[in-house]
Amino acid sequence: MTKLNKSKALIAMGLAVSSFALASVAGAEGHGAAPLVINGDIEIVTNTAAPAHMENISTIQSGWEFRTPDTQDLQRDDFDNPGMLGVDDARETWATVEGSEGKSCASCHGEPETLAGVKAVYPKWNEDAGEVRTIEMQINACRTENMGAEAYGYSDGAMTDMSALISSVSRGLPVNVAIDGPAQATWEQGKELYYTRTGQLELSCANCHEDNYDNLIRADHLSQGQINGFPVYRLNNAKLNSVHDRFKGCVRDTRAETYKPGSPEFVALELYVASRGNGLSVEGPSVRN
Ligand code: HEC
Ligand code: HEC
Repeated sequence: MTKLNKSKALIAMGLAVSSFALASVAGAEGHGAAPLVINGDIEIVTNTAAPAHMENISTIQSGWEFRTPDTQDLQRDDFDNPGMLGVDDARETWATVEGSEGKSCASCHGEPETLAGVKAVYPKWNEDAGEVRTIEMQINACRTENMGAEAYGYSDGAMTDMSALISSVSRGLPVNVAIDGPAQATWEQGKELYYTRTGQLELSCANCHEDNYDNLIRADHLSQGQINGFPVYRLNNAKLNSVHDRFKGCVRDTRAETYKPGSPEFVALELYVASRGNGLSVEGPSVRN
């Protein structure tokens, strides 16, 4: 099917009777903008060849490419990126002793920069726990098991800030999550969820982010729904947003019951969606509308 036919199919599927409207973007925003280099130093790959496991897309693109030049520019310098305020807060938390063991993150890990490269390979299989872990799950495991401190709520501000700090020290490195070996079953589950139509609108993630990226939906320029830029500072809600909060919002838009942040379903979906970005740079915290 051509892209246009797919748009028509999407409208026929129910979007026309909803508040959604699709249109092609003529002279799409952002295309042709200067490449993203952060602080004049960190080069970010915002499009590249799709990983071999992707059947229907040949070039993967960061959500950054679909935003307006004004929004894009906010990521070129950390002083302009409002998401970096959360990173600064997390740097303080990093060095703060909490919990019964009298330890901070720094007690064991030293500077946050020692975790450079970690974000690029998460979600990742944890052999001891026998599960695929997101960065957020690992942060809570360290808090509860290594510090004797309380777990954060999965999408709490402090959690998302810490996740942003850990992402920020990996910026520019290629996303490279493993999808084989012990992670494969979780990855398959995530893939299944990605292609399953849900809600009254009977839409899958793929219907929007694979079949219709680069089109307009309401006033929004639809991206490929990549997560290399997470956590994302959204100008719409003026805060850092976790991957699972974004999934929740998208599922709700299909008028379906959604899974909870931190649920096994969203962990599996995160692994699968992350793997669709293998080869893009870690970019979070990024700025979107
Ligand atoms: C008592 C020591 C200790 C403390 C305190 C601690 N950690 Fe850890 N952390 C570890 C160990 C041990 C590992 C597992 C070894 C590894 O994978 O490098 C780990 C792993 C991690 C990883 C995954 C690294 C990887 O390569 O997969 C992250 C992320 C992390 N910790 C974040 C934190 C944060 C954030 C804090 C503070 C909230 C914290 N840790 C506090 C000991 C600690
Ligand atoms: C009805 C269409 C629709 C469906 C279905 C949908 N999304 Fe979205 N999604 C959007 C829109 C609109 C945006 C905001 C513009 C953009 O970034 O694409 C968005 C944004 C996103 C983003 C943020 C990308 C970034 O760079 O900030 C992610 C991630 C995402 N979606 C993932 C998903 C996943 C996973 C699913 C399936 C559970 C899904 N979406 C289902 C419409 C949809």
